[in-house]
Amino acid sequence: MQLKMFETTSELDRYAAQLFADALKEKPASTLGLATGSTPVGIYEKMIELYQQGDISFKYATTFNLDEYVGLTADHEQSYARFMNRHLFAHIDLPAGQTHLPQGTADDLAAECANYDRMLEERAVDIQLLGLGHNGHIGFNEPDRELQSGTHIVELEQATREANARFFASIDDVPTQAITMGVGSILKAESILLVVKGSDKAGILKQALQGPITTECPASLLQTHKNVTVLVDREAGRLL
Ligand code: GLP
Repeated sequence: MQLKMFETTSELDRYAAQLFADALKEKPASTLGLATGSTPVGIYEKMIELYQQGDISFKYATTFNLDEYVGLTADHEQSYARFMNRHLFAHIDLPAGQTHLPQGTADDLAAECANYDRMLEERAVDIQLLGLGHNGHIGFNEPDRELQSGTHIVELEQATREANARFFASIDDVPTQAITMGVGSILKAESILLVVKGSDKAGILKQALQGPITTECPASLLQTHKNVTVLVDREAGRLL
C-alpha cells in the first residue's frame, strides 16, 4: 500500500486526476471504477480541465460506478446517475453508452444486481476510485459481521443516511436502501485509489489502514489488495 499526503486538497485532486490521465494515455480503452460523494468532486473537476486542455480523452473508456440509491430514478436530483452527469459525464467525451451505474428503480433489483455483476465479470476494472465513509464503508458496503462479494442491496445505516442528508431536503427523503458493488468486486480491480479528505475521517482512516482487517471496517479489507494507493490531505492523515 502506497500512501501519499498532500498539503492541499487541490494538489491531491490534481495528482489523482493525473493518475487517471496516465492510465487513459497508456490504455485508451481503460475500464474506470468511479465513485460519488463529495470526495471525488474536485478530482472530476481536474479531469475536466485536463480534458479541456486536450491532455485526456475518455472516448474509448468504459466506466462503472460503485453504487446507486434504491428508489431514485436516474434523473432524480440526488441520484448518483445525475451526480455523475453533473460533475463529470456531461463535460467530457465519454459516450453515454459506455457509462454504467446500477439502476435503483429496476423492477427486479436482484436481477439488476446479477446483471451488473455479469457486466463487471466481462472486464477487469483498471483503476478504481474510492472514497471512505465515516464508518469505514466503501461504496455502500456498510460494516457488518459478514460482507457480500458481489453487487447487492444494502440497508443504509442511520449514520450514513444522516451523513448524506445534507444533499436532500430532509433526512426523511434519504433512501433507506442502495445497490452497491460488493467488496469482492471492488477488490478485483487492478489498482485502487482510496481518497480521503478532512479531519473527521482521520480516525476511521487510521483504523482502515493500520487496524485489524475486519468486516466491521469494510475499508480495512483493502489491506489485502496488492495495488492500493491512498491519497490523503493533511487533516485526514494526521493520525497516521
Ligand atoms: C457515500 C458513498 C461512498 C462515499 C462515502 C463518503 O455514501 N456511497 O461511495 O465514498 O459515502 O462520502 P463523502 O466523500 O461525501 O464523504
